[in-house]
Amino acid sequence: MNKQYKNIVILTGAGISAESGLATFRSADGLWNNHKVEDVATIEAFWRNPDYVHQFYNEMRPELFAAKPNAAHLAITKLQKEYSANISVVTQNVDTLHEKAGNTNIYHIHGQINQIVCLNCGHVFETWSDVSSEDKCEQCGIAGMLKPNIVFFGENLLYMDQVDRLLSSCDLFVSVGTSGVVYPAAGFVQVAKFGGAETVEFNLETTSNNYMFDRHITGPAGTTLPQFVDELIEKS
Ligand code: OAD
Repeated sequence: MNKQYKNIVILTGAGISAESGLATFRSADGLWNNHKVEDVATIEAFWRNPDYVHQFYNEMRPELFAAKPNAAHLAITKLQKEYSANISVVTQNVDTLHEKAGNTNIYHIHGQINQIVCLNCGHVFETWSDVSSEDKCEQCGIAGMLKPNIVFFGENLLYMDQVDRLLSSCDLFVSVGTSGVVYPAAGFVQVAKFGGAETVEFNLETTSNNYMFDRHITGPAGTTLPQFVDELIEKS
């Protein structure tokens, strides 16, 4: 890991936000908060009972609004400012901690908590306020079609064309705090590796697709990622 990289992709999962106090999905107190995934995170659930789904995300929004970025998010900002390469952040997280830390080139492939999409006209707008099934779209005026702009099971991921291009042309792929069990994000390391990238994984533990990585850095990302960033900057 000594060369000067030109195109870096950093994939992040819930683990990068853990040290900001946000629960990961597959921990005991997971983010679905004892709700069944099929009741709050599938498109069928949304059509069946939109207000139940809205209530779930309405309750989550203030916690994510209040959360503050940690040293791992800030390390990415430092890398983007002090290392001369195209550095993209592809995140599965719906929180906005990358934005709060000042990261740039962020792709929220699973959507983001502070956005709403109108399923009638496709209009996307930002809000931290509660949303209900009675609200009207500010663009088309139709009520009952507003949905949190969060990718539910049964929906396509966002920005995949751009992300595919970034993955196949990157020379360093870094994965931070993701369990690597939810596809397609779990397969990104493979795409990057087949394109010739070096691959590094930051996690607290060994993940199920760990064999795809050239290097594993074990420990809390708020400690390990800043060290890694400093090493990259020193060697550049
Ligand atoms: P998970 O909860 O599956 O995994 C979090 C990972 O972060 C685990 O592998 C932990 O070991 C690791 N971890 C926890 N704390 C850490 C720390 N301080 N430093 C480093 N690593 C740490 O979360 P994701 O992989 O993000 O999708 O889950 C992927 C997707 O599953 C989510 O985006 C969500 C869910 O289905 C949707 O909602 C569409």
